[in-house]
Amino acid sequence: MTMTSKFSVLVLGGALLCGSLVATLAADKAVEPKKAAETKPTVETKKAETPPPQKVATAVVDAYLKSTFGRAPPEWQARIEPDESMKVCNATRNQPSHAEADKIMASELKRVEFPADGKFLGDWKEGAKIANNGRGGQFSDDDKTVNGGNCYACHQMEKAEVSFGTLGPSLTNYGRDRKYDAAEIKQAYTKIYNSQAVIACSNMPRFGTNKFLSEQQIKDVMAFLFDPESPVNK
Ligand code: HEC
Repeated sequence: MTMTSKFSVLVLGGALLCGSLVATLAADKAVEPKKAAETKPTVETKKAETPPPQKVATAVVDAYLKSTFGRAPPEWQARIEPDESMKVCNATRNQPSHAEADKIMASELKRVEFPADGKFLGDWKEGAKIANNGRGGQFSDDDKTVNGGNCYACHQMEKAEVSFGTLGPSLTNYGRDRKYDAAEIKQAYTKIYNSQAVIACSNMPRFGTNKFLSEQQIKDVMAFLFDPESPVNK
């Protein structure tokens, strides 16, 4: 008997609480249009006081980015912090001054490691696979995932491949158009190893410097571009 009445009081209390909440909400709703009209000038004043949207957005984006790196391995965590070149690219929205661009290209060139054996060209057949492979660099990768170059995401390469992006120029006939010239070969290796050594704030990844592709993989992709037998040059 006592239990039942206590229970009833509780239920009643809950019902009362809910009831008053609903009433408050309903009241708020009911007066909303009037309120908005009356307080219009105040709202406008408040808007003017808020900081510029870009500042807020940067902090929000940074915080979000950090949160997505939560369980990433330490070497990936380090990549959240922009290096000296990326700081300038970010600050200038990829439009560095001539002096800044020269500085970036000079310092990035120092980060290019040319092959110790002096050979720039590997196996074009392997290179074709690497150019077509967009795997790697994802949190869901297992230990066995081998990174690909994903070159087709931005470049046309061999003519038979119909699926390609156009952010970068077409690389069709790349070696043939350059007469398989040694200086051109070295320049292309530099570009693929560290795109910013050639164009500051480039949209192309720094495959070698950022250790995304191995030296052998870069050599194979180079052969895909420069081997006379490669379909890129047919
Ligand atoms: C996210 C896009 C992107 C990806 C992926 C990409 N590139 Fe590029 N690449 C570019 C852009 C953009 C340029 C034009 C120059 C610049 O802005 O740096 C370029 C330029 C080049 C050039 C110089 C072209 C010239 O005019 O002589 C070569 C060679 C090249 N890329 C090769 C590659 C290879 C090989 C891969 C794959 C391993 C690759 N790129 C992946 C965007 C990309």
